[in-house]
Amino acid sequence: MSDFLRRIRNSKKEEVEIIETIEEHEELLLPIVKENQDLQEQYDQIMFFYESGINQITAKLQILNNEFKFSNDRNPIENIKSRVKSLESITNKMIDKGLPLTMNYMVKNLHDIAGVRVICPFISDVYNVANMLVNQGDISVMKIKDYIKKPKANGYRSLHLIVMVDVYFSDHKSQVPVEVQIRTIAMNSWASLEHQLRYKKEREFTKDMKKELKVCAELMSEADLRMQKLAEKIPSFE
Ligand code: GTP
Ligand code: MG
Repeated sequence: MSDFLRRIRNSKKEEVEIIETIEEHEELLLPIVKENQDLQEQYDQIMFFYESGINQITAKLQILNNEFKFSNDRNPIENIKSRVKSLESITNKMIDKGLPLTMNYMVKNLHDIAGVRVICPFISDVYNVANMLVNQGDISVMKIKDYIKKPKANGYRSLHLIVMVDVYFSDHKSQVPVEVQIRTIAMNSWASLEHQLRYKKEREFTKDMKKELKVCAELMSEADLRMQKLAEKIPSFE
């Protein structure tokens, strides 16, 4: 078992294991945004920084997927999606956190501006992909939240990593924070439906509805575990 897997599986802390915080990261070279511009202009100026981080992570994942396909004849990654957080979401989150509405505060305090979501067939693929990614020399792990080992109270399951990836620009190297969410097809199916229910609802969820949603999450999880066991019965399956 790899160090990464051992570390997260042996972690006894509640839900979140913070390895290092971005503030403590010495080499971090964040762009400084001119604050005499309006928020939209500041946003436009800085988004290329996060898009570059996304491109870097996505390329790495695609390479790993292709290599694995070549040697094992199947893909450990079903799908990769990415987004930069919209100005509206950033603004709302900054207000929620009581932070001044400037991009310089945003850069230091929000670590999910760049987001990559990776969907894998099997639970073992989730950890293998995470392991392959974080073991690369130009990536450092800032935070791991293992919501597979410790699902959220509502039933949400996923492995969340905040990583810093090296990006070379014309005259300097930066480390760009990227939130990587890795989960199985079944976990993603539940999360997508739950998201739709949450955003479409006109009234609060009742206790019974929440309970039912959680039962669905557990059914999905049971299916994942049984499929995993099935895969492990096939001797050549990797
Ligand atoms: P945010 O402020 O939402 O970023 O939460 P956080 O900083 O506590 O981070 P966390 O790792 O818990 O969640 C980050 C992201 O995971 C969210 O933006 C969602 O994309 C996803 N997520 C977390 N919880 C849920 C959930 O209950 N349902 C769904 N559908 N997605 C979730
Ligand atoms: Mg978020």
